[in-house]
Amino acid sequence: MISIRPLSPSLGAEVLDFQLSSNPSAEAVAAIRALWAQHKLLLFRNQSVDEPALVGFSQQFGALEIHVREEYLSPEHPEILYVSNIERDGRLIGILSDNEVGWHYDQIYLPQPAVGSLLMADTLPPEGGNTEFADMCAAWDALPKQTQQKLDGCLANQSYEAFNQAYSVPTNNKQKARSPDIHHPIVRTHPVTGRKALYLCPGMTTEIVGWDAEDSTEMLAFLFDWTTRPEFVYVHQWQPGDALMWDNACTMHRRDPFDAQHQRLMKRTTILPQAEVGMPF
Ligand code: SIN
Repeated sequence: MISIRPLSPSLGAEVLDFQLSSNPSAEAVAAIRALWAQHKLLLFRNQSVDEPALVGFSQQFGALEIHVREEYLSPEHPEILYVSNIERDGRLIGILSDNEVGWHYDQIYLPQPAVGSLLMADTLPPEGGNTEFADMCAAWDALPKQTQQKLDGCLANQSYEAFNQAYSVPTNNKQKARSPDIHHPIVRTHPVTGRKALYLCPGMTTEIVGWDAEDSTEMLAFLFDWTTRPEFVYVHQWQPGDALMWDNACTMHRRDPFDAQHQRLMKRTTILPQAEVGMPF
């Protein structure tokens, strides 16, 4: 029996007394899967997980994506993306350095967007670098009916390029070819719960397809403001040994900057949709 403690009124639960490992029991995987769908964000504290265990545990929930930014992958385990400001041999070992990272959905720019991410704290600064999560089901549910009707069935343009210009460094030509702009429905239906979620984010969503430019800009500005209202958001202050697993079909996230004098290294796996569940749109 797995016990939990809610993290915020809207989303998130801490899973108590649970160690991530590469060979969890089938019962544990089923229980975590159900909690993950229900709470959208799971916190596991006091973890001591090496890279093979991080990969092995993550693989229980779906195939893992090898991120397009191969320069930031773990040398031994390419399923792991390093998020870091640490430099080795004159180059950053991880993505996103120490700057603010705006609200985004991981891999919204792929034809088969990820369903989840698992982020493990390896090295933390004394302060800063908090990560915030927004509950996009709650944000959808609370929208006026008229706005829901206007949005349902619409597509939006998702751009990794726009995100990189604002928060990261440009991709090379090969990476650009693997991550061109793409259109996805603005409303995504969760494959497990069947709940609807707003599937757009300030960091990567550039326009509502087929709308007049002014109307599109105005609606997106409203939605970006709406979805990040405090009642939909949980702010995570990292502690050593923390691992967070979030549902990438219905939460977006952002990160605070932190002091460049301090090192931060996070290790992330990205979980792809299971073929038998199908595409969550
Ligand atoms: C991410 O956006 O995937 C990284 C979040 C963080 O560095 O806390």
